[in-house]
Amino acid sequence: MKKFIYLDNAATSFPKPPQVFKAMEHFMKEVGANPGRSGHPLSLEASRIVQNTREKLAALFNIKNPERIVFTMNVTESLNTVFNGFLKRGDHVIITSMEHNSVVRPLKYLEESGVVSLSIAPCDHKGFLDTEELPRLIKKNTALVVLNHASNVCGTIQDIRAVKEAIREVPLLVDAAQTAGCYPIDVERDGIDFLGFTGHKALLGPQGTGGLYIREGLSLRPLKRGGTGSISEKITQPDFLPDALESGTQNNVGIAGLGAGVDFILQQGISKIREHEQVLTSTLLKNLFDVQGLTIYGPLKAEKQTATVSVTFETILPTGTEHLPSGCGAINLGWLEDGLSPSEAGGILNKKYDIFVRVGLHCAPLAHQTLGTYPDGTVRLSMGYFNTIEEMEVVAGAIRKIAES
Ligand SMILES: Cc1ncc(COP(=O)(O)O)c(C=O)c1O
Repeated sequence: MKKFIYLDNAATSFPKPPQVFKAMEHFMKEVGANPGRSGHPLSLEASRIVQNTREKLAALFNIKNPERIVFTMNVTESLNTVFNGFLKRGDHVIITSMEHNSVVRPLKYLEESGVVSLSIAPCDHKGFLDTEELPRLIKKNTALVVLNHASNVCGTIQDIRAVKEAIREVPLLVDAAQTAGCYPIDVERDGIDFLGFTGHKALLGPQGTGGLYIREGLSLRPLKRGGTGSISEKITQPDFLPDALESGTQNNVGIAGLGAGVDFILQQGISKIREHEQVLTSTLLKNLFDVQGLTIYGPLKAEKQTATVSVTFETILPTGTEHLPSGCGAINLGWLEDGLSPSEAGGILNKKYDIFVRVGLHCAPLAHQTLGTYPDGTVRLSMGYFNTIEEMEVVAGAIRKIAES
C-alpha cells in the first residue's frame, strides 16, 4: 500500500499499538478458553485477562469498583442498554442538539412508541451546550440527561461537571465515544452516573469492544438474559454486576486487546496524549486559518476541542447565522464563492493526496443542523495519537491547493 495519512480516527483509530494485536494473538494461541465458565487453568487465565481489562478501565476513569463496568460490543450497545434498561413508560429524557444517531435513533423510537417524551437542549453554532438553559427543560418526570462529551463532527468538548451541576440529581449518561482514551474523564469529579465508551477509537482496542459504567445505587434491566457462568443452579438472571448485564460469551479476544490498548494509554499518560493531540489540532488550524474559500467549524481552539476538525469548501453562510457579525464557528465568511462539495473535496483528498478522511453527516444529522452544515455535511479530519505535526503541514498544504484550484 502507498504511503498515506490516516485522518479517520473519529470513526476508528488506526494504527493500534503492537501490544494490542499481540495480546489478542496471545489470547487466541495460548489461552483460548472461556472465562468464568470452567475451573481449569486456561479458563482461570482467561478470567484474569478480562478482569485485568476491567481494572485498567476503572483506573483510567477513576471508577472505585471495577465490577460497575460491564463489557459491550460498542458504545451503541452501552447506550441502548441504558435506554432500554433504565427508562420506563412516562419518563422524560433530555438530549443535546449535538448527539450522534446512536443516542437519537433509539430515543426517537422510544418516543414514537409512546414510552418516553424527549427534549433537545440547543447548542450554539460552535456546538457548545448552554448549561444554564438545562434547568428550564427539566420536568417532574425527567429521568435522564444524555450528553455527547465531544462532537464527532467538529470536536467541541462539553463541560460534564457544569451539566451535572445544572441538572443536579437527574441521572447523567455521558457518551464518551470521542473522548475515552484521549481526554481526562473522572466519573467522581465529573458527577457521571452512566459512562458509555467504545473500545475501538481512542482507547486503541479492536472493533467489537466497548463498555458501560453504572454508578453504585443505579440498576438496569438487562438487554439480554442468559448464561453468565455464575449461579448456574438458578433459572433467573443474576442480579449483581457485571454478570447481570453480561450474558453469553463475550468478545474476550477483543477485551484482551482492549486491555493492552488501555495499558498503553496508562503508560503514556492521558495528559501526554491530550497534549500531543492539542498540538496537532492547533498546527492544523493555524495552517488553515488563511485558506481562502475554506470554512472551518467548531470551537477553532485546540483546548476546547478534540483532535477533530470539520471543513467545507463552499463558503455558504451556515443556516441561521446570516445575522451574526462574525460568529457561528466558521471563519472566512467573506469569501462567498462557489466551491467543491464535501464529497468532491473528500474524494480528492482520499484519491489524489492519500489523505484518508470521512465526508458527509458522520451519523449526526442533528449536529449538522446545529452547525449549519446539513444536509451536505463536512469533510472531517480526525487525528489520533500516532499522527505527526509534519503530517498536519502536508494535510494543510493539500487542502490549500484544493481550495485554490
Ligand atoms: C459521539 C458518538 N457516539 C456514538 C458512536 C457510535 O460508536 P460505535 O459505532 O462504536 O458504537 C460514535 C461513533 O462514531 C460517536 O462518535
